[in-house]
Amino acid sequence: MTLASRPRPLRIAVLASGRGSNLQALIDAQRAGALPIELVLVASDKVDAHALRRAKAAGIATLALSPRSAPTRAAYDAELFARIAAADPQLIVLAGFMRIIDPAVLVPWAGRIVNIHPSLLPKYPGLHTHRRAIEAGDALHGATVHYVTAELDGGPPIAYAEIPVHAGDTPEVLAERLLAEEHRLLIAVVALIAADRIALGGTQVRLDGTALPAPLRLGTDSDLVVPGNRKA
Ligand code: GAR
Repeated sequence: MTLASRPRPLRIAVLASGRGSNLQALIDAQRAGALPIELVLVASDKVDAHALRRAKAAGIATLALSPRSAPTRAAYDAELFARIAAADPQLIVLAGFMRIIDPAVLVPWAGRIVNIHPSLLPKYPGLHTHRRAIEAGDALHGATVHYVTAELDGGPPIAYAEIPVHAGDTPEVLAERLLAEEHRLLIAVVALIAADRIALGGTQVRLDGTALPAPLRLGTDSDLVVPGNRKA
């Protein structure tokens, strides 16, 4: 492939409220040459989010926008998403963004905004997912990358990473074990989106143009597996 014909990297904006380890996973994969993306903006609702420091250290443009800067929740979301749009991303990734987003601002981003959530959705939307999985006696826990819609943690799931729940697991231990899988999952899904292979058609997730009967699953070698056990 000549330089001229090489596809451009996928322009991504990341929203993160805290630690930013999922953001770091994207940064590291991009730097390692394993992910054809350009991180055009990292935005946060927490002005002191560690994610912003990680972005600055990587030379990525940042936006710290406190909800206190706007008179209403809707006004805040409108301002935030206007600033994101100004960075002209092709995809928005919510990576530990801990706010509910006004559905109105999501409309233009339908099919171009994904979230990583620490449960096997539709199980345990919202908070305290690890504790809820343990309390329910689940043998299997995991994380989901899904398209973001107006319904909180309710948009079509693209892929799961699954881990066993061990006897004696605390929510903290389970969360830490899952986090490593989250990083692999997010990279794998973003790679498929960057390759233009995953898309949202109505409410259905499509892989190479065909609706998926069930979410992809992360395999041990970091590949995503389609239902029926074929590699994506
Ligand atoms: C991750 O576990 C992510 O799945 C979760 O927050 C953590 C952020 O970690 N997201 C949610 O709970 C969203 N509902 P990170 O800041 O180190 O990437």
